[in-house]
Amino acid sequence: SSGVTRDQAGALVVAGVPVARLAAEVGTPAYVLDEADVRSRAAAYRHAFEAAFAEVGAPGVDVYYAGKAFLSVAVARWVHDEGLRVDTATGGELAVALRAGVPGADLGLHGNNKSDDELAAALDAGVGRIIVDSLVEVERLAALVRTRGGAPAPVMVRVTTGVHAGGHEYISTAHEDQKFGLSLAPGTGVVAAGWTSHRDATGTPPTDARTEDSAAMVALLAVLAAPELRLLGIHSHIGSQILDPSGFAVAARAVLRLRADLAARTGVLVDEVDLGGGYGIAYLPGEVPLDPDRIAKDVAASVAAAAAELGTPLPRISIEPGRAIVGTAGLTLYTVGTVKPVQVDDETVRLYVSVDGGMSDNIRTALYDASYHAEVVGRLSSAEPVLARVVGKHCESGDIVVRDVLLPADVRAGDLLAVAATGAYHRVMASNYNQVPRPPVVAVRDGEVRTLLRRETVADLLALDQG
Ligand code: LLP
Repeated sequence: SSGVTRDQAGALVVAGVPVARLAAEVGTPAYVLDEADVRSRAAAYRHAFEAAFAEVGAPGVDVYYAGKAFLSVAVARWVHDEGLRVDTATGGELAVALRAGVPGADLGLHGNNKSDDELAAALDAGVGRIIVDSLVEVERLAALVRTRGGAPAPVMVRVTTGVHAGGHEYISTAHEDQKFGLSLAPGTGVVAAGWTSHRDATGTPPTDARTEDSAAMVALLAVLAAPELRLLGIHSHIGSQILDPSGFAVAARAVLRLRADLAARTGVLVDEVDLGGGYGIAYLPGEVPLDPDRIAKDVAASVAAAAAELGTPLPRISIEPGRAIVGTAGLTLYTVGTVKPVQVDDETVRLYVSVDGGMSDNIRTALYDASYHAEVVGRLSSAEPVLARVVGKHCESGDIVVRDVLLPADVRAGDLLAVAATGAYHRVMASNYNQVPRPPVVAVRDGEVRTLLRRETVADLLALDQG
């Protein structure tokens, strides 16, 4: 069984495992991941995009799970079992995916500032693609392949379509004034070319680059000019936690136009276009996540229309969902410690409910002003719901897990409290603030509990301290 239910006493049961048993076996705080939920969302995204793009006659679809959302050996295996590949953003993520046994050919490596060690690790693993993010990286990667020998490195060029989408400024990545990707705007290649006295640092445009070229075009030409590199395609990621699907279609059209321009210019029509991730999920009850079938049909229709207008055959399509695969499959289980009524103003009393974790296991509330839902899950209460704030144990007033939530007035020490939708960007963004060990991640499935990442201990932290 998968999913979340309540037993007869009103206690929460996740994938057949009662929360009291979880708390007894693994302690709190703990991240709990529903394996069947992860697998079914992975399969749903793959099936939706395969079907929608088959319908419009595209040569194929690859779904890469964006491991930055949450990666462990088991999760890499689950998604790979479900037919997904794995997108990594660092040498660390690459190492986890490789330990899971995911073949190099099914891996991609991202990053706007990859080290030579990371690039070399990717080449050693024979990754299916390296997504380059700057002109100077094109040169560095080509130089690395030259000194190492071996086959040309498979490369995609990440471009910035100007589409600004997503939940928060920090997680929107395709507008112009930010660090990711290469601009599609005409003349932006010249900015790079204009830094002639800094070419060691910024890279040298290839000889066929023109002043009116975009930075994206210049980088594509540079890849084509390098015998050490093999140009696979063009990559675009427009942001994260996107709930308005229109941005994907706009970005897809812009990328297809660049692909056609490159073909007109060089005769090379690249095979593949990656449209990135960013599919939004429901954090609160009543919120509606993006529906993979609908979004896949929308995007496929836009890609097909753009290809037809441009008179180019359809490319192979890839996407990189992260949050949409693991986000709502996870919850964080806490134990309530203290409860304190605070008179906020003449009319309002707010119950401050302190749990045994906090901003070290959920930084998203403080960082993005993100909203969450919390419930008392160890029992059913008939007490009236009152205005509450779930806070942590850290030495900082911004240590807020759930800013506003109604909790039963009789919430008390020892209660188990769950915060929903914490499967993505929680454990991976956790810190050791105040020397707090990071919580474990446990998987639940059919009444079984399995530890994916064990709980950190103070001894782990002390072991790092060299005196
Ligand atoms: N592909 C690329 C190139 C990305 O940069 C990202 C996310 C993804 C795929 C996956 O996006 P997703 O489907 O998960 O939205 N820490 C932030 C999210 C940052 C996302 C960065 N890039 C958060 O907690 O919301």
